[in-house]
Amino acid sequence: MPFVPLRVLLDYAREKQFGIAAFNVNNMEQIQAICEAAQEIMAPIIIQASKGARKYTNDIFLKHLMLAAAELYPDIPMVLHQDHGSSPEVCLSAIRNGFTSVMMDGSLEEDGKTPSSFEYNVAVTRFVVDVAHSVGVSVEGELGTIGSIEKMAAGELEDAHGAVGKLTIEQLLTDPAQAVEFVRRTGVDALAVAIGTSHGAYKFTSPPTKDVLVIDRILEIHKLIPECHLVMHGSSSVPQDLLQLINKHGGSLRPAWGVPVGEIQRAIKAGVRKINVDTDLRLAMTAAIRTEFHEHPDRFDPRGYLGLGRDSMKRVCRERMEQFGQTGHAKHIPHVTCEEMAKRYLSGFYGENAKPSPVLARASAKNSH
Ligand code: G3H
Ligand code: 13P
Ligand code: ZN
Repeated sequence: MPFVPLRVLLDYAREKQFGIAAFNVNNMEQIQAICEAAQEIMAPIIIQASKGARKYTNDIFLKHLMLAAAELYPDIPMVLHQDHGSSPEVCLSAIRNGFTSVMMDGSLEEDGKTPSSFEYNVAVTRFVVDVAHSVGVSVEGELGTIGSIEKMAAGELEDAHGAVGKLTIEQLLTDPAQAVEFVRRTGVDALAVAIGTSHGAYKFTSPPTKDVLVIDRILEIHKLIPECHLVMHGSSSVPQDLLQLINKHGGSLRPAWGVPVGEIQRAIKAGVRKINVDTDLRLAMTAAIRTEFHEHPDRFDPRGYLGLGRDSMKRVCRERMEQFGQTGHAKHIPHVTCEEMAKRYLSGFYGENAKPSPVLARASAKNSH
């Protein structure tokens, strides 16, 4: 069964009221860590790759690593998701490479830095929805700019993607009324909302209060658009023990706080279904590898330190999946292929807004006969 569109997984998670971690990957060990953790607790998974990750790994390698994962873990439903697609071209090339879900991040212009206008965001996202839905691929949009209310600015850049300079509170918190209009006009399956989380390790300079991490905004938005799945970016918790291990073994990370797991659990109750985690996985691998290098400077077999990095990442993945409620659900995810999804979108099963444009709908219908 392995590959499923994001929408299938998130619809099921909404029905059973749990959240699903979306883990970023760049190489084989990271894919293995996620799959091994998922297999242990029979959890469905979302594996995501940024534009930079795809460039680093190479699309052909990534595709075949994912095919290997599907062959080795036939009981684990998997979504392969494009994280932060900065243009329709990025999303289209992901679709061509077998991704079952794409994020069109039109909250920034194509340079990945300049906050865009609402109309620009609607236009590029709608275009991607038309194409993606005609082949049954799910689409995540973003409204509002992911960033820190504490700093009134975006967090760390991810492959040069992220707003630069100061941001206003209006940009840093998704407007509920605008979210309704955005979802109506674009037909997205999922929406990333800005609530004060930012990418990277340095989210908060002390444990966050509700003034800088505004979980309540999720509830407001969810009530207005319950059919659209909400996504929380910048959801790493930045475990203090991992920071300490890194610094103890030669690292020099500044004091940093992330999103407490308890707050993520509150967000899941308030309507969040997809929770993006990358930084915690980087910290886990780095902590293990630094420790090994420091304690055994005589060793130089990559299988030694990469294996330890993989084990450390696997522990964090398992912990997050358990905390978000994913345990045991792998067996029950309905097996819906992208082809079947394309027919559903076309038939209006997910509503008029999610239907692809008439031209693409006709092409898609012809191809499926
Ligand atoms: O937001 C997503 C990730 O942190 C991606 O980071 O672009 O450096 O791969 P990256
Ligand atoms: P973190 O940097 O908090 O892990 O967030 C990752 C993310 O949002 C990827 O899109
Ligand atoms: Zn993100």
